[in-house]
Amino acid sequence: MNFISSFLCSWKTPKIEGLKKGNIPQHIGIIMDGNGRWAAKRRLPRIMGHKAGVEALRQIIKTSVKIGVRHLTVFAFSSENWDRPKNEVDFLMGLFVNSLNRELASLNKNGVRIRVIGDRDPSPRKVRNSFSNAEKKTEHNQKLVLNIAFNYGARQEIIYAVQNICKNAQKKDLDIEALDESLFSSYLYTKHSPDPDLIIRTSGEYRISNFLLWQCAYAEFYFTRTLWPDFSAKHFLRAISAYQKRNRRFGKV
Ligand code: IPE
Ligand code: IPE
Ligand code: MG
Repeated sequence: MNFISSFLCSWKTPKIEGLKKGNIPQHIGIIMDGNGRWAAKRRLPRIMGHKAGVEALRQIIKTSVKIGVRHLTVFAFSSENWDRPKNEVDFLMGLFVNSLNRELASLNKNGVRIRVIGDRDPSPRKVRNSFSNAEKKTEHNQKLVLNIAFNYGARQEIIYAVQNICKNAQKKDLDIEALDESLFSSYLYTKHSPDPDLIIRTSGEYRISNFLLWQCAYAEFYFTRTLWPDFSAKHFLRAISAYQKRNRRFGKV
């Protein structure tokens, strides 16, 4: 192997020796932020940042599978993002459809199961179809659950849960005295995943922006100034390595 190809090879396959194998976060949530600023820095339209963001996500999914992360929840479109300029929203809808369709074979090959969380009803039919197609075609995969948070807002998620709990209580399908944290969690979009161990936010913003409010109760947070399209496998492993140095006490001593 010559120098160039060995360099490319080591660049493509991140070193994972530094990580403790027994302490890989089971569930990682990511607020993929900074696409617009990434584009602006290059004097490109914002949509180019979103396009580059998809490539970053591809690398993070691949790395997650490789190191044994079991659940990855990515914030792709918030319920507040509809208020962006129409051309940006339209572009994002097209990007979701095209990226999902294009990546489906590779996701399947890597054992990735797609679940879309959030209220998909108000989205264009093409988007809804591509979501249900991706969910159906990947439903038997078992390596990694990829929750795509789309038109997702955590407060709305909690309100839906409360509404459904009340409906079931009225129908006497649920004994309100039996309601506990675990039963409540089973009414959330994320019911198939454990609570996140680690939440990453890129782009230097230190806020949660209505992401996984209930589920993040005991998550570790990792904030980085890196803009999402620049967030590579190397950055991801650095975040996990920081997580592994944390002392999670869960209120104990
Ligand atoms: C995150 O990047 C992607 C979405 C919210 C869809 P942004 O588009 O928010 O990028 P910035 O924050 O404007 O740089
Ligand atoms: C959060 O990013 C939502 C996504 C990453 C999809 P935003 O860019 O929408 O959040 P704010 O406006 O900075 O809080
Ligand atoms: Mg943003």
